[in-house]
Amino acid sequence: MPKNDNIDNIIDHKLFSEDDIHQMCVRLGQQLTKDYAGKNPLIVGALKGAIFFLTDLVREMDVKEQIDFMDVSSYGDGLESSGNVKIVSDLATDVKDRDVLIVEDIVDTGLTLQFMKDLLKKRGAKSVKCCVLLNKEANRKNDIEVEYYGSKVGNEFVVGYGLDFMSFYRNLSYIGVLKPEVIKLAQK
Ligand code: XMP
Ligand code: MG
Repeated sequence: MPKNDNIDNIIDHKLFSEDDIHQMCVRLGQQLTKDYAGKNPLIVGALKGAIFFLTDLVREMDVKEQIDFMDVSSYGDGLESSGNVKIVSDLATDVKDRDVLIVEDIVDTGLTLQFMKDLLKKRGAKSVKCCVLLNKEANRKNDIEVEYYGSKVGNEFVVGYGLDFMSFYRNLSYIGVLKPEVIKLAQK
């Protein structure tokens, strides 16, 4: 762990302010309201990173929806996707014949989302789409369709608003780029 917990020593620069994030949630919420009109979607939040985004997003959606959560992990505490996705905590809801919308903080390699989409389809969901806040395309390892996203990001490690580094910094109200030296320090 970085020795100095002063946030200015950890964040290189702010990428998205609270207002930027709010605008993304409003735009996505309006689109989802149109696309899910007359449906009763099951919103599946990917724990833990997506909880901040999910709670803001659903309040911008005028849809009769239900919410459940699933914790799948491919990263552990590392920074690279292992590709080895496992279910840490499963849904309580039966997805058979449901219109499912997966909500995730960020898509990187795409392996986590692909695993979740395949699993929910296999369980009989009528439709499975995803809505991610950030779309990092540089390391994509498949051609997964990301139906909805807030913004594209470059190949940088971002934290805040649910996104974590070694489980820290989720509670920052903005999204910032982690200083590369912090990552190097932690890898020692
Ligand atoms: P994949 O590679 O399967 O992984 O698409 C998605 C998960 O990877 C984590 N991830 C990040 N987490 N800042 C983070 O805090 C990042 O820049 C970042 N890139 C990937 C995240 O947990 C996501 O759910
Ligand atoms: Mg995650």
